[in-house]
Amino acid sequence: MDRQADITAMRRAVELAARGLGATSPNPVVGCVVTDASGRVVGEGWHQRAGGPHAEVHALRAAGEEARGGTAYVTLEPCNHTGRTGPCAQALIEAGIARVVYAVADPDPQATGGADTLRAAGVEVAAGLLEDEAEAGNTAWLTSVRTGRPFVRWKYAATLDGRVAAADGSSRWISSAASRADVHRLRAEADAVLVGGGTLRADDPHLAVRGVEDAVQPLRVALDTRAELLPTARVLDDAAPTLLVVGEDADTRHLPGVELLRLPLRDGRVGVHELLAHLYARGIRSVLLEGGPTLAGAFVAGGAVDQVVGYLAPALLGAGPNALADAGITTLTRALRLDITETAHIGSDIRITAVPTLKGA
Ligand SMILES: NC(=O)c1ccc[n+]([C@@H]2O[C@H](COP(=O)([O-])OP(=O)(O)OC[C@H]3O[C@@H](n4cnc5c(N)ncnc54)[C@H](OP(=O)(O)O)[C@@H]3O)[C@@H](O)[C@H]2O)c1
Repeated sequence: MDRQADITAMRRAVELAARGLGATSPNPVVGCVVTDASGRVVGEGWHQRAGGPHAEVHALRAAGEEARGGTAYVTLEPCNHTGRTGPCAQALIEAGIARVVYAVADPDPQATGGADTLRAAGVEVAAGLLEDEAEAGNTAWLTSVRTGRPFVRWKYAATLDGRVAAADGSSRWISSAASRADVHRLRAEADAVLVGGGTLRADDPHLAVRGVEDAVQPLRVALDTRAELLPTARVLDDAAPTLLVVGEDADTRHLPGVELLRLPLRDGRVGVHELLAHLYARGIRSVLLEGGPTLAGAFVAGGAVDQVVGYLAPALLGAGPNALADAGITTLTRALRLDITETAHIGSDIRITAVPTLKGA
């Protein structure tokens, strides 16, 4: 086997998988490259939307007869079950694929077993190639399968001294235009975008995706426990669907036609995990938490932040709200420690991506 050729093909499959981000939930993103018996790429595919063909099927269709005797590179173990589409393991066998290389084993108990089916049919199977890269590309879905709630990415834009607004409340714009465009990409990758009532009242945010080609609009989820939002709020326009989360007894008569989720309140707050459970039940697998600091604090306190993306702008304010409000942490030994997974210059800012350090690591 030509290992370098295997790596090149799998890396391409990981790239293809990313094209589905934000559009496939509750399914994972998956990419597939099919080569013929000589190793020439004859088909490519990715899972484009839930209910549509899986990546393998797209790639096999593109390859046609040339797939016979060839290799399929798939970012996730081919599925073994018949859902809205047929099992991919069977499709690969029927297409005459001789070897399947996949990166990440399928943790979904309903779908797993594809590798065994392939082996039983005489197909050579190799697992684990570029596993880390493929895992990173599918982190939202994998996290949601493992935790039973949506993956939560908390994003904020702050000055170098950690302020997300000035003392007078002004907050537009802390970060550069390039960072703001980058945030639209994060929104496009998410199934839902979430903000708290403080942000709704202070900023009247719109939260829809702009400037990202072929983006599927995320569900805009706005917490407004007392239903104080005006019908003219930008988040209620028809650019994207919106779910308004209100307290059980909130008077919403001035908001006809708005989709509501009524939740019980404790100390005037909705339960973070209760909210996430509702979102999960409606197929949401990834949430972009856009603040503000109070809501982010509640998510951190609830252990419900899986990734932090901070845009740090080279500016100082010295006063104004900090990126994170009280998260129930009172002493340094209880700090939520993070591992930085990436730093990047975005316009004039620095984007830092970090994930909570694994306990015991
Ligand atoms: N630079 C940035 O990245 C960025 C991003 C977002 C916001 N901001 C700034 O942050 C400020 C607003 O932040 P904020 O901290 O005042 O408000 P916030 O975090 O946006 O919202 C907090 C509010 O959400 C509602 N809520 C419901 N359940 C909750 C729960 N479990 N935990 C926490 N909140 C819950 C409550 O509002 P109700 O009971 O009133 O509904 C609560 O007062 C503004 O200045 C805004 O410009 C900056």
